Amino acid sequence: MAKMVGLVVGLAMLGYCSLVAGRVVGASDPDFVPLYVFGGSRGDSGNNNYLDTTVKADSPPYGIDSPTGHPTGRFSNYRNLPDFISVALKLPQPPLSYLSPQLTGERLLYGCNFASGGAGILNDTGIRQGNIIRIPKQLLAFQQYKKKLAAVVVGGTKQAERLVINKGLFLFAVGSADFTDNYYSPPFSARASQHTVPEFVDLLVSELSKYLLRLYDLGARRMLVIGSSPFACWPAQLATRGGAGADECDPELQNAASLFNSQLNRMAQQLNDRFGYVFAVVANSAALSIDIRNNPGAYGFIETKKACCGQGPYNRLGQCTPASNLCSNRDEFLFWDSIHTTDRDTGFFAESILSGPAHVVFPMNLNSMLALKQDI
Ligand SMILES: *[C@@H]1O[C@H](CO)[C@@H](O)[C@H](O)[C@H]1NC(C)=O
Repeated sequence: MAKMVGLVVGLAMLGYCSLVAGRVVGASDPDFVPLYVFGGSRGDSGNNNYLDTTVKADSPPYGIDSPTGHPTGRFSNYRNLPDFISVALKLPQPPLSYLSPQLTGERLLYGCNFASGGAGILNDTGIRQGNIIRIPKQLLAFQQYKKKLAAVVVGGTKQAERLVINKGLFLFAVGSADFTDNYYSPPFSARASQHTVPEFVDLLVSELSKYLLRLYDLGARRMLVIGSSPFACWPAQLATRGGAGADECDPELQNAASLFNSQLNRMAQQLNDRFGYVFAVVANSAALSIDIRNNPGAYGFIETKKACCGQGPYNRLGQCTPASNLCSNRDEFLFWDSIHTTDRDTGFFAESILSGPAHVVFPMNLNSMLALKQDI
């Protein structure tokens, strides 16, 4: 009991015992790491279910491989990246969506998910997607969350900050939509007429960096920044840019993605130098995806070009809906729908984030970062 610091929560016991003893939570345990999630559809675990937008994963067959078989709002056949990371952090459950009515009491201690499908770094990304939560609003929501948290932690704001927020891992997964639904969005892009690709990448990274600094001011001390997804190889992009039967990832998009990912590494280096400790690590799923496409068999994948759920040639067109074609062998597919990869691929990516090599996670993997005894 010596480790218990008395984070007493106000509401009923929920039965998650690893962090909870009686009505006291052992948050002084150095292993206690709540998870906070920001960004777009790779992070969203259900916020968009509550919003009036076209970017939704609330109907079948989304969630088809989950224990209930029902959609949850995750853009996956089962789990998304925050789910895998929260298991690695040994949280009793993934952090709930900010808009979930169940986000109360002890569940506030596991963190919170602010991500919203369609959101990009820039405010003008996803403007056709209706009412999504863009990043500035996600940061405002985080401040609201902090008030709710302070109300259930003994010692209020100060202890909530020190024992929960400062210990958190902040997962930021954003950026693909700024390319696919902004700079490269057909038929006309104001951004593309204003900026070259390197200028646009610099703009994205500088805006993202401001958001990370703002989160630091709000108590964030450890960041996991997820670089762009393999959008140059998305079935949706192959269809729109390469034609229905296109086979190869789009070279122009691939260049943009790798520039973005390398500038993110630079940003992390600069922030880490500035703070004098490892504040941010950057994970590059496009890099892992190239490894997988070059050698799918090594990962047990058979199909890396077709989407499992969709319509048209290679299931590349439109959204994944109850009326779409659906593959039966989801574990053999890299892509679940025309934009998002399968549960299985996401699991491989999570493994790489945790223990992978430097070309996927920089400057060190997440396990190494979490093991550092840093004075933060
Ligand atoms: C984005 O929108 C928010 C308000 O929602 C505003 O405060 C912010 O300055 C905008 N950011 C940029 C870069 O225009």
